[in-house]
Amino acid sequence: MVAKRKFHITTFGCQMNEHDSEIMAGLLEENGYLQASSRDKADIVIFNTCSIRENADKRFFGTLGQLKNRKKTEGENFTVCVCGCMMQQQHIIDTLKEKYPWVDVVFGTHNLHRLPQLLENLYNEKKKQMDIWPEGGEIVEDLPAKRLFPHKSFVNIMYGCNNFCSYCIVPYTRGRERSRKPEDIIKEINGLAQDGVKEITLLGQNVNSYRGYGENGQTDFTDLIYMIADIEGIERIRFMTSHPKDLSDRLIDAFKNCKKLCKYIHLPVQSGSDKVLKAMNRRYSRDDYFRLVEKLRDAVPDIAISTDIIVGFPGETEADFEDTLDLARRVNFDSAFTFLYSVRKGTPAAVAKDQIPEDIKHERFNRLVDVINRSAAEKNLKYRGQVKEILVDGSSRGGNGFCEGRTDEFKLVNFIGDTKLVGEMVKVKITDSNTFSLKGEIQK
Ligand code: SAH
Ligand code: SF4
Ligand code: F3S
Repeated sequence: MVAKRKFHITTFGCQMNEHDSEIMAGLLEENGYLQASSRDKADIVIFNTCSIRENADKRFFGTLGQLKNRKKTEGENFTVCVCGCMMQQQHIIDTLKEKYPWVDVVFGTHNLHRLPQLLENLYNEKKKQMDIWPEGGEIVEDLPAKRLFPHKSFVNIMYGCNNFCSYCIVPYTRGRERSRKPEDIIKEINGLAQDGVKEITLLGQNVNSYRGYGENGQTDFTDLIYMIADIEGIERIRFMTSHPKDLSDRLIDAFKNCKKLCKYIHLPVQSGSDKVLKAMNRRYSRDDYFRLVEKLRDAVPDIAISTDIIVGFPGETEADFEDTLDLARRVNFDSAFTFLYSVRKGTPAAVAKDQIPEDIKHERFNRLVDVINRSAAEKNLKYRGQVKEILVDGSSRGGNGFCEGRTDEFKLVNFIGDTKLVGEMVKVKITDSNTFSLKGEIQK
């Protein structure tokens, strides 16, 4: 009997890619392949790539290049596959063909369910696959997934994006927006709940524009949340990402009315300058954003709010940047992902003449991070003395008998505890806090 081939997947990028990797692992196991514990021990190496910023592209090519010698010595016994967002762009495929022609299989974001077939073609017919994938469009249901955690899971509710923010590559790499049918989503979550999953995170580039058409007509995002909340066993519902232009009053009310919906929202603002927001094609103003924050806090006073901010978008002046600093100070975010603007080939902003010099970008970036860290630390301080319910994820990265988990508000909490608690809800009294996490003691 031929030994079963072992695979290893390296994932770059966002939760969408992480979840795609879980699906690929599920598909491969279903087709008789085994998961290897490391890249070195694998016969099949898969890179699931991200293209959101330039350094994401660079990191991938760097890591891929390290495999060249191994491929040379092991030849047909070693398979290299690359997939994900980078592979939806022709100039990346051209670079691969020219500089990395030893790669065996290339596929994109639309057709990952075909991976087992592509491997079969390679092994049985020596057929390589190295061309760009046309957009799929159709949604393939009932794909298996090998979850990273037993107690929590991502669930895609929609694919693609129609927003075309002028800096962003995602609409080009993930295609047009398409929503799954509500019945299919509910069926998947029912199965997850029966399998012991307590927390689900609904994924989409802009979940607020979810529109599912099923047996009972149209379902919007808020309807979907209430439907999921009825599923026994599911204790927490999270989602990402919401676009401020589509955040509805009904969804804000759901934070108040639906106990299972976690009191946390990631609401990317990108900039605090109306001029820059317009150039980014975001379709809301800074005042719109302030109004949303006010409504959210009126509904749930201690809701946690995080954001994404891009620094150094083409044409951003010092005054524009100060508007961003001012917005960040006034909103008092719980946390924020801050990014240096990165030119993405094929997007409108890439050809703007007034690109910002790197040193100015960095200087602004550091000033912004100071403001964000201050508000994050201040927000976390308020948790000291409170008893919070934590869903335990595993042992802490720091080790030393500590476990980690998240509060309803998505705050990371470290506490001394047994790993037997993983997947359990426990009560923890918060004793200490810093910018990025809380520390606590378990309550008996
Ligand atoms: N769909 C989500 C975000 C997906 S990308 C949303 O709209 O909120 C995650 C974040 O990457 C974005 O919010 C943005 O802040 C950042 N980003 C996207 N393109 C970028 C670029 N070209 N340069 C720098 N940051 C970028
Ligand atoms: Fe990109 Fe904008 Fe779509 Fe988010 S909403 S994925 S930032 S184009
Ligand atoms: Fe995600 Fe990166 Fe693609 S952020 S959608 S994996 S470009």
